[in-house]
Amino acid sequence: MQKRIINEHAWLLGAVDWNRRLFDALIPLPDGTSYNAYLVQGTEKTALLDTVDPSKADVLLAQLANVDKVDYLVAHHAEQDHSGTIPLVLQRYPGATLITSPKGKGMLIDLLRIPEERIRTVTNGEIISLGGKTLEFIHTPWVHWPETMCSYLPEDGILFSCDFFGSHFATTDLYVQNQAIVYEAAKRYYAEIMMPFRTSIRKHLDVIKNRAVKLIAPSHGPLYAEPEFILKAYADWVSEEVKNEVVLPYVSMHGSTEAMIRHLVDALVERDVKVHPFDLAATDLGKLAIALVDAATLIVGTPTVHVGPHPAVFHAAHLANALRPKLRWASIIGSYGWSSQAVERIVELIPNLKVETLNPVICQGAPREKDFQALTALAEVVAAKHRGLSN
Ligand code: FEO
Repeated sequence: MQKRIINEHAWLLGAVDWNRRLFDALIPLPDGTSYNAYLVQGTEKTALLDTVDPSKADVLLAQLANVDKVDYLVAHHAEQDHSGTIPLVLQRYPGATLITSPKGKGMLIDLLRIPEERIRTVTNGEIISLGGKTLEFIHTPWVHWPETMCSYLPEDGILFSCDFFGSHFATTDLYVQNQAIVYEAAKRYYAEIMMPFRTSIRKHLDVIKNRAVKLIAPSHGPLYAEPEFILKAYADWVSEEVKNEVVLPYVSMHGSTEAMIRHLVDALVERDVKVHPFDLAATDLGKLAIALVDAATLIVGTPTVHVGPHPAVFHAAHLANALRPKLRWASIIGSYGWSSQAVERIVELIPNLKVETLNPVICQGAPREKDFQALTALAEVVAAKHRGLSN
């Protein structure tokens, strides 16, 4: 990829990773991703903002072939998909100073063994001049690591936001063309890594609102020429509002839990509750994370395996606990053969979820009429709790 012009002073550099399908050996990337870096030139100084994943170092270095001088290399975030090529860039530009937050400094030294004397830390709100252009550094901790920050170029109204507002979406589009597609990719990214930090993110959104942002340039996915689109989406995701939705992750081994799930889904839908069922044997966990962003209620469906829940349910419950979604209610349904502690074990797995628990429905063997009646009653309780929530 060649570098792409944003305006006469700013360019998009970096690489599109069309084929990457997993991030952190955990997060599915159905649409690939990109590692965006940016070059900003003033009349006196040149700044490179972030680098790329080390697997794409050759792409960035080729884009820099005609750039004789980099004075500042800004590291918004120490995670290696953005920082991993910093050592090579510092080697190419021996006069460049690496700029980062105070927390970023220690992390970059730990992760990349960067010499301390190459690093200058900046405080929140600190400004550097490039000559006719300035960069203001805005500390945005916990998006999604403790050292994260953004840069704001006030003369052009550009916010360089790194992971913040990013989307794992490989595309040749410089700017967002199809908001619906990018909305899904950005929500997936928010759900997978930022949802636990929504209180911090809410404060960062207030800070950004006080800048005249005309363009948001993230480090994954296309740029937002209409920043209101993604700012509004984030405001919605980080709010404490929940929607009239139930997330229903489940596993069924021999059909009993599946029969319970089918009955419960129908009973909820009859009561105008939206349901997101996920068969954990087949689902993309990113989709489950997305559904958890807005839902009011989580109901886990599990068979009993060696007294406890199915291992796939362990995994999903652990994930839901780590993501700390803004759920209000939770319950468990499922089936067992001879004895079960599935409910107790699942409850132990989700201490972070500040939810009111609704009566579980656990049956022995295939569900009987009384079990279906209990599921109908559970749907009735959920619908009553959800009354007044928006869809
Ligand atoms: Fe795109 Fe947190 O790295």
